[in-house]
Amino acid sequence: MKRTALPKLLSCPLLIVAVLTSGMNVYANEADYAKNIGKTPPMGWNSWNKFHAGISAEIIRGIADGAAKYKLNEAGYKYLVIDDAWQARRLGPNGKLVANPTKFRDGIAPLVKYVRQRGFELGIYACPNRVTCAGFPGSLGREQLHAKQFADWGCKFLKYDFCPTRSKEIGLPYDEVVRRYRVMSKALHAVDPHIVYAICEKGHAGRINRRTRRHAGITTPVTDEQRRKAFAWCPEVGGVMWRTTGDISAKWDRIVSIVDEQEGLAELSGPGAFNDPDMLEVGNGNLTASENRAHFSLWCMLSAPLILGNDLRKIPREMLEIITNKEVIALDQDLMCKAAEKVVDQGDIECFLKPLADGDFAVCVLNRSRQAKEVVIDWSKLGLSRDTYAVRDLWAHKDLGSIKNRLTRTVGSHDVFVARLTADSKD
Ligand code: GLA
Repeated sequence: MKRTALPKLLSCPLLIVAVLTSGMNVYANEADYAKNIGKTPPMGWNSWNKFHAGISAEIIRGIADGAAKYKLNEAGYKYLVIDDAWQARRLGPNGKLVANPTKFRDGIAPLVKYVRQRGFELGIYACPNRVTCAGFPGSLGREQLHAKQFADWGCKFLKYDFCPTRSKEIGLPYDEVVRRYRVMSKALHAVDPHIVYAICEKGHAGRINRRTRRHAGITTPVTDEQRRKAFAWCPEVGGVMWRTTGDISAKWDRIVSIVDEQEGLAELSGPGAFNDPDMLEVGNGNLTASENRAHFSLWCMLSAPLILGNDLRKIPREMLEIITNKEVIALDQDLMCKAAEKVVDQGDIECFLKPLADGDFAVCVLNRSRQAKEVVIDWSKLGLSRDTYAVRDLWAHKDLGSIKNRLTRTVGSHDVFVARLTADSKD
């Protein structure tokens, strides 16, 4: 059941009992949920894409200082998340997680305070397995204990990453994977309902994950229907966001292949529940300015969580302009929370359309090719019903005027044209 369907059903007493006892949703209703966390995609930063296991308290403090210096909170960024490899190799007394004493000498709690003083919240990482993806102790069977530790420290975000590092865990039955996520969800909700629960399961339960498929000998292509089923349980167990792909990398081909993997998933996303195509690589590797712009725009079109992955201690101006483009971020944070769908596919040229809460539409034209291309953007081919729209270019920050039927633009190689369309009142 989708979280958004609850209020309508709550008029029926029998159903109230069913919903409250089913254990499917950890929130009583949508209003409770929105009050606790907020409706729009979470925004923040995560340590993995840039630092991998090479993190420390010093780096996290530097990141918090940078995030404050560049005023990233004003653009909407909130959570600074420490990913895997923050833990010591062994659990402490009574099965508690312990921070690595060399990297995080004073533990996690002082970092929560440090980050909060700069206007952000700290997030943390754990796994529903015996060990994490990087081989540190997992939380399986100790969910209440670990959830309480996170809450006591003051963490406000948990990335819970399913990593079947041992072969007998690769093919775990669907119900068991879902059960493990529900247990942690309940444990978190019991200690602090304000913690964002970020599911990172990557399609293992639904057998669409590449590794699980190889293990099970499945060779048939994944259908949109299978993809939807693979993640439909995530909002039902209280996931605010859920990873829909394997790991991203700072390479153009990987970024566009992840966009392809989002096909068919738009209907799962809505207020407080988001498909997560993985953390941003903007500013990492050798991505060009246009590739970074396209990557950021596509994530905003998809209503994806905007979790930065670059080094915030020093942000080049060009990069800062991308990650703080308020007009593009406004598409991501739109209250309708509707993910864009691909409405035109001409091979190298694709158009995505996203309806917005005020009746406007966002359009993103993606040029996947190595050459600049002239593109005719025809309102009727996008599926729009009006003849005339006022068009605003969201990267040039420029009104292009009232445009009838179609607009012709040259879109650079590995670049996007992103516009907001407002129905013309005279139309
Ligand atoms: C998995 C996740 C990554 C990261 C690493 C950490 O690969 O998908 O995002 O969290 O584990 O080990």
